[in-house]
This record gives sequence, C-alpha cells and structure tokens, in this order.
Amino acid sequence: MCGIVGYVGRAKATPILLDGLRRLEYRGYDSAGLAIVEKGRLETRKCAGRIAALEKLVRKQPVSGSLGVSHTRWATHGKVNDENAHPHFDASGKLALVHLIGKIYDDSCASTVDAPGKKARLFDAVRTALRQVIGTYGIALVHADVPDFMIGARRGSPLVLGVGNGENFLASDVSAIVAYTRDAVYLNDFDVVAAGPEKFEITSLAGDSTEHPVSKVEFTAEDIRKGDYPHYMLKEIFEQSNTVRDAMRGRLNAEECTAKLGGLNMAPPELRDVGRIVLTGCGTALHAGRVGEYLIERVANIPTEVDYASEFRHRNTPMTPETLVFAISQSGETADTLGALRESRRKGFRTLGICNNVASTIARESDGGVYMHAGPEIGVAATKSFTSQLVILALLGLLFGRMRNLSTAEGSRVIEALEALPGQIDAVLDLNDQIKAIAKRYASANGFLFFGRQFNFPIALEGALKMKEITYLFAEGHPSAELKHGVIALIRSDLPSVFIAPDDSVFSKNVNNIEQVKARKGPIIALTSGNCAKHLKGIANEIIVLPEAPDYVMPILNVVPLQLLAYHLAVELGRDVDKPRNLAKSVTVE
Ligand code: AGP
Repeated sequence: MCGIVGYVGRAKATPILLDGLRRLEYRGYDSAGLAIVEKGRLETRKCAGRIAALEKLVRKQPVSGSLGVSHTRWATHGKVNDENAHPHFDASGKLALVHLIGKIYDDSCASTVDAPGKKARLFDAVRTALRQVIGTYGIALVHADVPDFMIGARRGSPLVLGVGNGENFLASDVSAIVAYTRDAVYLNDFDVVAAGPEKFEITSLAGDSTEHPVSKVEFTAEDIRKGDYPHYMLKEIFEQSNTVRDAMRGRLNAEECTAKLGGLNMAPPELRDVGRIVLTGCGTALHAGRVGEYLIERVANIPTEVDYASEFRHRNTPMTPETLVFAISQSGETADTLGALRESRRKGFRTLGICNNVASTIARESDGGVYMHAGPEIGVAATKSFTSQLVILALLGLLFGRMRNLSTAEGSRVIEALEALPGQIDAVLDLNDQIKAIAKRYASANGFLFFGRQFNFPIALEGALKMKEITYLFAEGHPSAELKHGVIALIRSDLPSVFIAPDDSVFSKNVNNIEQVKARKGPIIALTSGNCAKHLKGIANEIIVLPEAPDYVMPILNVVPLQLLAYHLAVELGRDVDKPRNLAKSVTVE
C-alpha cells in the first residue's frame, strides 16, 4: 500500500528507483512517480497507471542524477490522476515531498548558509514539521539545494534504510533494495534518518541521536524472482511443501511428543496457566485464526476466540488476566492488526505475533511470537503464508495440549500428521492438471459458493476470498449447514458450489447438503479424501480426491486445490493475478 524508494550515491538514480518501484508493485498502487536532483534542479516524472507508464514517460523525457526518491500511490483520498501522483513538491518546487517542511526550511534559510548548514536545517525542518503531524506516515525526501543528502522518517508505515558501499537506500520494504544491498537498518516509529552516500544519522523527532543495529536481510534477490513460473502466486502455491516444512523445522520434539517454540518467551508455568486465547488478524490471516480456534480447542482444550483485528481493537472484549492474544500477520504491518496488538498490550495482556516478515513492526512490538519462515510472499493473494500459519497454530495446539490433557501417544500422532504434510502437499500439487481442467470448464460461471464444516468452514471462507480477489467473481463461503437457512435461494445452474467434504466425522452431513444443492440443479465440485470419493460418485460433478489426514491438519491440504482453482480461473479470465485490481498486499491504512 503505497511504496517509496530513495537513493543517494554515485550511480544513476533513475534505474534504481524504477527497479525498486517494480519490486514494490505487489503492495498495490494506482499511480507512480519519481523526483531526481539533476544539476541543482528538481526534475519530476509522474503519472497515473502502472510503473510501465512511468518508464515510458522517463524514456521520452530522460532524467539523470544520483539522488532521488520514487513513489507508488494507492489512492485513499482524491482521484487517481497524474496530478495526485507522488512525489509532491513544496511551494518553491525545490523540495520533493511535503509543503509544511518546505516552509519551515525556507524560513530557516532566509539568511545565507553553506552546504553543511543547509543539510542541518533541512534535517531540523523535517523534525519540526513532523512534530506537528497527526496520523501515520512513511516518507523519503530530497531537496534541490542539498545534493548528496536524503531524509526518511516513519510513523506507522514501514521504512528501511539499505546500507551500501558508497551509497544508501530508503525503501518501504527491503525487497525493493535487496538486489543492491543486504545490510539494512529497520527504522522505528518517530525515527528520522538523514543519509549521504557514505554515512547516515538517525535521530528522534526531538533531535537526539539513536543507535540502530545493521541487520542482514534473510533472503536474497534470487528469492524474489518468479523463476520459470508465469506468476508469483503459482510459484508460491508450489513452494508450500517446502514452506510448511520450514514452519515446523526444529520445532518438533519427538522425544517429549511436543513442540518447541522458544520465541514465545514463556516459561512452562506461564504456558500452563494460559486460560484463554484470542486470535486476531485480517483477511487470510483471520481465516487461519478461525482454523486455529477449532484446532486449539480440540487439541489443547483451551477456550479460544477469533476476532477481526479491526473489530477487536475498537470493542470492549471482556478479557481475563490469563488471556493470551495472538496477532497473526504475514506482513507484520497491517494497520488494524498492529492496532489490535497495541490495544491488547496497552491493557496489559501478553500479546504474541505470528509473522512472516521478521523485521516487521508487529514482530518487533509483540512480547514474543513464532516466525513463519515462508520466505517473501509477493503475490497479493496470500497462499504459502496461510499454510505456514496453520502449521504454527497446530504447533501451538500441540504445545499447549501437552502442557495439559494431551497424552504422549496423542502428541506423537500430531507430530506424525505434521511430518507427513510436505509429502501430502506434493501429492495435492500433482492434481494441478485436473484442477486446471475444472477451472476451464467453469470459466463462464457467474460466481462460486464454498461450503465446509468444522475445521473446513474457514477453508470455505478462504476459498471464496481467493476466488474474489483474483477472478473478481462473486464468491461466498458458508458453513455447509447454513445452506438451508438462506443461501439455498441462490442455487442455480450457473453458480457452482464447492464442497470441502473430507473423510471426517461430518462427512455424511456434508453429503446431505450436497444432495440439497444437486436437487436444485446446482453444479458441485467436491473436495474429499480417501474412501469417501466413492460416496460422491454420481452426485458431485467434479471430485478432487486428497490424501487422508487427521481433521486438524486436513485444512492445510484442502486449501491448496482452492488456491489452484482460483488461480487457473483468474488466468482463464485474463486477470492480472499478481496485481489484482484495487488490492494492496500490505494494508497499512485503516
Ligand atoms: C489475502 O489474500 C489478502 N491479500 C488479505 O486478506 C491479507 O491476508 C490481509 O490483508 C492480511 O495481511 P497480513 O497477513 O499481511 O496482515
């Protein structure tokens, strides 16, 4: 959601700034621009539309220089047009970014000052202006009068400084700059950084210097390439046997039949005394939480609730002292999830993160947590992060269960089920051609309904979300039994119903619902497992047969065909799979 890149060094800034914007495309945007200091003047190029349009503009009107900022804008207020595209300028046209800062700087430079003096005054002007700003920001700015010098600041929106050799970078996300440097400084809220080619300084808004470690980015530029895949989403779907393995790597203790999650920072008595769990997040992360609710209650017998982060943070949920709160977020930057985390911590509850992005704000502000280790997820539609979240929730269920009622034999069975998952996911991925053929057959459908029960009700929600996000078709997910309470009125021959009906304790009840749809001429795509397939022959139009697994890990297998179904349908419909309209990968505004 908006992306910024800054460069100061000796190389030509334009290709670096454009490359950085391309790598941030996944965040979502509708206009783009750059501003470069060239021979003491500020040159800008900006336009509505894709980065490709900006590149075309820059080819027509080239701009060179070794200092500059670039920006993708995701409209919240104001139209999507060339004028509203960023960067913006002050009244003098010399400062690329914010009017307030320009005024303070111009006033402070009324008397003649030398170059170092101008740098200090610009740095001061930014801090003075930002002390007056209400709300969140993540900014990068340059000034025509101050060559070799850029300033960044953050509050609420992520910003990272890339430390290079004779050059420095600013970016909303390290993926924009990892091709140039893997040394990064993750800025905190209220930090202001001034960087030249050789050095940088970070201060608070009050001007006090602050120390920050330089960290090594845990992935490389190679990890964010599509490779031979046509889309990031497909690549990430196919990575899931590995990412699921990585999510449990080193975390299973076969000897004690439990999980090891040291990052929770909780001693055994604290783990034992947890009396209630609240899981919160948005979108796909919330759906993972919904599976977690069933799973933790089943395996660990701890009362567990799930709430939208956007609701939880503003409502007065009665909480008991032994409540443990989890904020689930791939990016670790989602504004509402971060808001929920802060509200929960403000009230004094232990709040833990389940994040993929290790340097994210949620990861850093929580009392502890569990990383997904899924590698960068670029496709806007979350896939591998979801299955990693489910594995982590299963590990939590195992850990809490073994602190309570779960026997060693039952704990061993959970471990066996988890260890079998990577191979089983590979077997599901082998069904890709079958699912692609189904997608082609149903490409003219008017929408899709998804149904599931128990652990698979959240998978119905997730299947519908994937379908909506990338095909733009109408899609809804429901508990199967809710069909007859209203949804059945929608059933017709051009609206397929996808039933998630594995071999579990509610299979026969699912069959009952499938029959109700069939009786009303609704096409049926059924996901099932093991021997249950034979009961669906002659009832379902399409049957996808998955490996058998215990019900608490079955959602991890069931979601994969639904990701593939949405993907192939989107491709069939000619959609922009990795950059679906109106969506941002990381929603850093409310
Ligand atoms: C998932 O496909 C969506 N792009 C979206 O719902 C996403 O899961 C949600 O915005 C939460 O993101 P997070 O995991 O980064 O917090």
